[in-house]
Formats: sequence, C-alpha cells, structure tokens
Amino acid sequence: MKILGIETSCDETAAAVVADDSRILANVVSSQIELHRLYRGIVPELASRAHLRKIAPVVEEALHDAGLSRPDAVAYTRGPGLLGPLLVGKVAAQTLAYLWDCPLVGVHHLEGHLFAAELGGEAKLRFPILALIVSGGHTDLILAKKPGLYRVLGRTRDDAAGEAFDKAARMLDLGYPGGPAIDLLAKTGNPQAVSFPRALMPQTWDFSFSGLKTSLLYRLEREGKPRGDRERSDIAASFQEAIVDALIEKTLAAARRFKIENVVVGGGVAANSRLRRKIKAAAGRQGLNLSIPPPGLCTDNGAMIAQAAIYRLGSGRISKTFRPDPSLPFQNWGQALTF
Ligand code: KG4
Ligand code: ZN
Repeated sequence: MKILGIETSCDETAAAVVADDSRILANVVSSQIELHRLYRGIVPELASRAHLRKIAPVVEEALHDAGLSRPDAVAYTRGPGLLGPLLVGKVAAQTLAYLWDCPLVGVHHLEGHLFAAELGGEAKLRFPILALIVSGGHTDLILAKKPGLYRVLGRTRDDAAGEAFDKAARMLDLGYPGGPAIDLLAKTGNPQAVSFPRALMPQTWDFSFSGLKTSLLYRLEREGKPRGDRERSDIAASFQEAIVDALIEKTLAAARRFKIENVVVGGGVAANSRLRRKIKAAAGRQGLNLSIPPPGLCTDNGAMIAQAAIYRLGSGRISKTFRPDPSLPFQNWGQALTF
C-alpha cells in the first residue's frame, strides 16, 4: 500500500508518498521562508495564498518522483495549525481521495512528528513512549500508551521552544527562521559564557521560555548588541544551552517517573545539533531507547503525515469528518470516533 501525505499546517507546502513498510518513495517540501523573511515571521494570509499556488505542483511532483499515477490512500494534516493553510490541504486531500475513490485519513500534526521516527526503514515504534515534540508552535511532553492513546503531561506555558529560538534570533539580527541560524552560530560559541535562567519548575511537567527570552532582551538593553562575532556566538550558544538543558532535564525526569524506556524526540527543534548530541548522551547514561528522526524529517514534511496514517488504515478507522481545527486537541486523539 502506498500513501500520499499532505502537510500544509504552517509555512511549508509538502507532499510525500510512503509505502506501508515505512519506505519514503517521494518527499517534496516547498518552503515559504523567502516569502516570510521580509516580515521576520509568518504572515497567515500570505501563507494561505502560497499554499494555494503550490499544492497542485507539489502533489504532482511527489507522485511523479514515486512513479505513481494514484496512491492507495490520502492523508492530510487536520490540525493544529493556521486555519487558511489547513483548509488548502484539506480541500486538496478530500478532492483527490474522492477522484481516486480511496480512503482519506485526517492526521494530528503532533502525531506526524511522533511517527516521523519510524520513517525510512527505522524500527517500528515500541510503546509505551515518552515523547517530546518541540516545534515552532509546540513544546509538548506526551505519554503515548499506544498509537492514538496519548496523555499530554506538560506543555509550554508561554513561548514554544522554536518560537523562543526565532524571537532570540530576531533580537540578535540573525533573520528567520531563527533555530537553524542560532544552531550554526552556537557551534563556535561558549555555552557557559552567559548564565541564562532555566525555568525548571519541578512541581509540573510544563515548560516556560518567556523568562529566558526576557533575560536576553534585558541583557541586550543593558549591554547593547553584541560587538563582534565572538560575543554573538557566545550569546547564541548560551541561549541554546538554556533551552536544551530544560528540555532534556524534564524529558528524562518524566521517563524515570513513569518508568518508560522508549523516548522519541520530534518536531523542528529536534533538528538542533546540540539537543541531539546532549540528549543522546544523557539517554544512553539512563539506559533509554531513544529515537530522533534525521534532521530533514524533524521539520514539517508530508512523509510524517503519511506514516502516522498507516496504523489508522490498518485498524480501518478512517476519517468521517473533514473540518480542519486550528487548535485540535491531542489528548487521546486517535480514540475519537471521527477524525
Ligand atoms: O516542526 P516545525 O517545522 O514547524 C512547526 O510545526 O512549528 O518547526 C519549526 C521550528 C521553527 O521555530 C525553527 O526555528 C525550529 O523549528 N528549528 C530549529 C532548528 N531547525 C528548525 N530550532 C533549533 N535548531 C534547529 N536546527
Ligand atoms: Zn511541525
């Protein structure tokens, strides 16, 4: 079985074809970074229009790359995300499934980030899983008992980790998106150079990054913009370290508390080289079985959406409602009768 996955929740128009043994047969991602760079952030209306222009060519290219005239099923991101962009993906997916007379599966975006860890011939996920999904919109710590049965243990109370990277990059004049720019700059910086606060909040599984962001702002107001490459990379490395430490500390503490051996990290921020290196080392010391998709599959793509649809197709539970939902809840998402 071959599944076409469509992802349009934010600023990437993406389509991919994935076989039911998790092989990626095609993976096309059309990024809108250039379009939004001018505004140093995503403009929803511009994003919707760009998705409209791109969706047909991107789907055509994916089918062409996979050497396929029609797939056996279509999956799309039902939410959460920006309403306009979600609508474009939904209408495309629904129309194609109707034309091809094949099953249509609505996928939760976070579930896509979780199942990305199975892509490309990696071993099937072993449940129960403690998942950390870190992106531009989410920093969620999830206890996944089995596919579709999710308990959200904690989430960010303010900025998501990716959002904190993006805002810090803006303050340091590093452009958009900020995560990759800070990651690169931090490689030549000293992570201990500046002591930024870590909001560990031991009484909850929630995260908070607004204090860290404010601390950077106050430093820049007090001492001015960095005066050279050395200072700029030291600030980037120290800021990144504060985020990475908070993410790792809480994830591994939750794994211990709930006695979970399988840990998955996903979402755009999981592409961060420092987070990848540090959490691999820390998980190894704790004897955990850690899965992180390769960096190119951490950021938004259609393959993760197709992959997350596979278990659902196997259980015969396919979509009955097609309403996109910008704030689709994740708790027990796969148990819903309609999705
Ligand atoms: O999952 P994603 O592609 O889109 C959302 O669902 O939001 O995540 C995008 C986020 C952006 O905030 C971006 O700055 C961040 O992921 N990101 C990174 C890196 N690559 C992307 N953050 C830190 N380090 C990276 N290498
Ligand atoms: Zn995402």
